[in-house]
Parts: sequence; C-alpha cells; structure tokens
Amino acid sequence: MKCLKVYDGTTRPIGINKLIKNDRILRGGIIGLGAIGSQQDEERKTDGVYSHAGAYRAVDGFELVSACEPNAERAGAFRRFWGVDTVYDDLDGFLANEELNVVSVCAPDVMHFKIIKHILDDPGQIRAVITEKPLGMTANECRDLEKLASGSGVLIEVNNHRRAEPSHCEVRRLLSDKLMGAVQAISAYYVKGLFHNGCTMVDTLRMMLGEVTRVKALPPFEVGSYGMDHSVDFLLGFQDGSKAIVQSCDKDAYHYSIFEIDMLFSGGRLTFHDNGFRIEHQPVEDYPHYPGFRSLGEPAQVQGDMARAITYIYRRVLDDLLADRTGFGEFAREAVKDMVIVEAIRESALQDGKEIEL
Ligand SMILES: NC(=O)c1ccc[n+]([C@@H]2O[C@H](COP(=O)([O-])OP(=O)(O)OC[C@H]3O[C@@H](n4cnc5c(N)ncnc54)[C@H](O)[C@@H]3O)[C@@H](O)[C@H]2O)c1
Repeated sequence: MKCLKVYDGTTRPIGINKLIKNDRILRGGIIGLGAIGSQQDEERKTDGVYSHAGAYRAVDGFELVSACEPNAERAGAFRRFWGVDTVYDDLDGFLANEELNVVSVCAPDVMHFKIIKHILDDPGQIRAVITEKPLGMTANECRDLEKLASGSGVLIEVNNHRRAEPSHCEVRRLLSDKLMGAVQAISAYYVKGLFHNGCTMVDTLRMMLGEVTRVKALPPFEVGSYGMDHSVDFLLGFQDGSKAIVQSCDKDAYHYSIFEIDMLFSGGRLTFHDNGFRIEHQPVEDYPHYPGFRSLGEPAQVQGDMARAITYIYRRVLDDLLADRTGFGEFAREAVKDMVIVEAIRESALQDGKEIEL
C-alpha cells in the first residue's frame, strides 16, 4: 500500500492522505509547464483545478513524477510549487527515464503531432497520452495518429474538457432529449485563432447540436491576434437544418478572452457565459406586464463544475485504462472530426467565403 497526498483545489491544501493499491497508481509526466501544464494552478486566484499538474494531484490513482520543459524558469517554479524534482529539458531524456504510464502533452499547438507520434513509435510502458487541443494541426495529422494509436496498446485522449464537465453534459442531455424545442438562432464568440480556439468552439457546438453538414467562412478573412492562425468568422450548418454563426472578438488585436454561446430555442434560451463557468437556462413564460405576449423568464443556472473540469478528463482516462481501452478515446475521435471542419472553414476563406458541403 502507498500513501498519496491528495490536492483537491481548495484554497488551503487539505493534506488528506488516501490509500491506494500500489498497482493502481499510474506514474504521470507533463510535457510543457506553461499555463495549462502547471502555471494556472501555481498562480490561481480561486478554488479549482486549472492545470494538468493539479489534475494529477486531485485525482486518485495518479502520481505526478516528472516533467519536460526547456524553459529553466518555468521548470524551477514547477519544482518549487509541486515538490516534483525531476524536470528534463529534452523529450528523449524525459521519455527514457521515470517509467511513465501516462504522459500529458501541454506544449504549443504545433508540437502536439510530433510529440504524440514520437511516443506512439516506441511507447514502452506508457499506457495513455492526454493531449491538449488541437490534437494535430491538420486532419491528416490527426488521422495518422489515429492509425498509429490503433493496435499500439496506448490510449490517446484530448482535453476537450467541456465534453466531460457536468453542466455541459446536462445541456447536451436537454438538447438530445429534445426538451428545448426547435433551434431559432445560435451565436457564438471566440478569440485567438480558428485552429487554436476555433477548434474548441466547433467541438462544443458539435457536442450540443450534432454533426456539421456545411460551413462558410465570413469576411474579413485575414484578421485576428494569433499570427497566421486567423480568427475567421464562420457559419456552421447542422444536420437538422439549423445554423450557428460564430464571430471572433480579436479582429484588430487581443483585448480580452471570450468563449461564449447563446442558443435560442422555441422552448427557451441557453447561454454559456464566462468561458462556460456559468450556463443559464431561461424558460418561456407569459409576459409579466400585460397579456398577449410570451417572453423569456428569469435565468436559472445549470449546476456544473468548470473549476475542476480537467479532473473529469483524468477520471475518464483512469476508467478507460481500468477497462483496458486503447487507441483513440471518444473525445480524440471527435477531435479528428473537429479538424476536418476547421480545415473546411479555412478552405472556404481561401475561396472567398464559398459554402462547402461536408
Ligand atoms: N484545453 C484548454 O482549455 C486549454 C487551455 C489553454 C491552453 N491549451 C492548449 O495547451 C497548449 C499549451 O498552452 P499554454 O497556454 O499552456 O501555453 P504556454 O505557452 O503557457 O506553455 C507552453 C509551454 O511549453 C513549453 N515548451 C515549448 N517547447 C517545448 C518542448 N519542445 N517540450 C516541452 N515543452 C515545451 C514552453 O516553454 C511553455 O512553458 C496549447 O496547445 C493550447 O492550445 C488548452
């Protein structure tokens, strides 16, 4: 038996020691100790678990043993905060040592494909890779990884955590059970690049509304704050004939982050505020001031746990490993479809906003 100190994201470390059977503890390591790898917990201002390092500490069954980070300052801050001494500055050294069972890929977007491929070429004792989005930079890169993963004995999952977080799952249930009625209008806002954050918007809208059948980029096309990854406005058409209009909010420069969705249905409204931390439901009611009208009532919050959303991904991976699942996990398979759509939007932009059927 072994003791694990469990960190649950509360303001003060609670120092609970939990006993777990030795053979169930998975040795985890993180590649990239920036914001999502570690820093968002090192510097968090509110209760929660906001990084992969925090998730390793928060979820029973994992142990955080090492990391890979070329930036010495970041490596030092990680060591001090988490008390994990082993940080490599090169990928090969990191993978060759420490007998890792789980690796989290938190390096910049363009490196994900190369790192995951490197792991899948010679996985050794690695049983799971939890990668940040985007899975790859092209649909072909994603498909190559899917082929490599199948038969590798390794589970690959993507941290599209809204797919696992309770309030987003509840909204999906409301929609799939057809409790909101027919779609009337859907608007969404994002920043920082079609491939960087637009892929998460596509994933979230697909989670809620189903498969996309057509896309159309909306001018102007070459705008945004994320370099050559332009923040294109776009339209998504869904199987039921409904559509969503997604607009970027960093056309001239980055001013603030936003990831919001407003969905109007015949039976009410669902609004995703504050990066999904607050999802509100408004029912349709009689107009309170005089008869003859219907209007949207007071918003009620859909209960959720966005402050710990990442921990749901780690629990899911643990469950998948305990069930001996390998290859692409469900969210990784969805991430491949997201990239097909994102590429189609870029193609539409290149063709001056031509509508593209999928
Ligand atoms: N799922 C989410 O909600 C979410 C949120 C933020 C970021 N992300 C994704 O996570 C990834 C990292 O984003 P971030 O905001 O933490 O970026 P960041 O720039 O803060 O951190 C990236 C880190 O990777 C390190 N790095 C660079 N090259 C490396 C290499 N070869 N090996 C190991 N480490 C290397 C950098 O030094 C840096 O510390 C991005 O792909 C981003 O899209 C996802």
